Amino acid sequence: MPPVKEEFVSKLIDGKAIAAEINRENAAEAAAIAKEYGASPGLAVVLVGKDPASQVYVASKVKKCAELGLYSEKIVLPESATQQEVLDVVRSLNGNPAIHGILVQSPPPPQIDEQAVINAIDPAKDVDCFHPFNVGKLLLGDLSGLLPCTPWGVIQLLERSGISPAGKHAVILGRSNIVGKPMAALLMAKGKNADATVTVCHSRTKNLAEITRTADILIAAVGKPGFVKGDMVKEGVVVIDVGINRVPDPSAPKGTRLVGDVDFDSVAPKAARITPVPGGVGPMTIAVLMRNTICAFKASMKKK
Ligand code: GUN
Repeated sequence: MPPVKEEFVSKLIDGKAIAAEINRENAAEAAAIAKEYGASPGLAVVLVGKDPASQVYVASKVKKCAELGLYSEKIVLPESATQQEVLDVVRSLNGNPAIHGILVQSPPPPQIDEQAVINAIDPAKDVDCFHPFNVGKLLLGDLSGLLPCTPWGVIQLLERSGISPAGKHAVILGRSNIVGKPMAALLMAKGKNADATVTVCHSRTKNLAEITRTADILIAAVGKPGFVKGDMVKEGVVVIDVGINRVPDPSAPKGTRLVGDVDFDSVAPKAARITPVPGGVGPMTIAVLMRNTICAFKASMKKK
């Protein structure tokens, strides 16, 4: 994003710095595992097709593994891959002892039944926390195992910025399986970093701005650039922008730039704290993915 005005700098929640802190913890854990077991947690990332954004995400996940001392495998299938081919790859990774986490990058091409692929992943290796078994555990309030990467990243941003959701009204914009639904489950759970009163809004919500104006914590995950405007929030709100939207910008070297779902310029003046895009939620997702891969490794050792 363009440089943030001086007056807003102190309001920023710095996702890059917090993700770096978590990744230092991850690297230390990976080093301790290498010492104790002479092995590394292993992540397999499966990419079907050539979606440019997915290619970038997959490359950064593999790079982060190398940086932190985790083993990784990238499996690329052609755009024309069949359901059976994708399922065969997943089943082979389920049986691969060097792999503790499996991630199939979303969205796959239209001929692939994504839920059927997720259902085929061994729940113990489901580092996205997308498998019905892990989603169910999450809804039951069991946070002991694998956690949803982006929503847990948001919880960590709040915790490590000293913001407690307890008793607050958290409004989530978006009801996706990747962000909105698991975000609601985490915030409404009992205990530390939770205990919020949660409202989930979506494309059919009436009087949206009336609801968002009552938010103490507003989490935007709708995939619409600049959707949340200043007149939709109250003074003192904490704003977490999950959106990553590429928009044309003739003044940028690439001709495009990334923006969030929040119109930063009109919302930041009213917000107590706000995440930037990029550099807010984005880096957190990968940090939690690495944490989950380490967690899956440790759980696999306990089973032996
Ligand atoms: N596509 C966008 N975000 C994600 C994610 O967290 N996991 C997977 N598998 N695909 C994604």
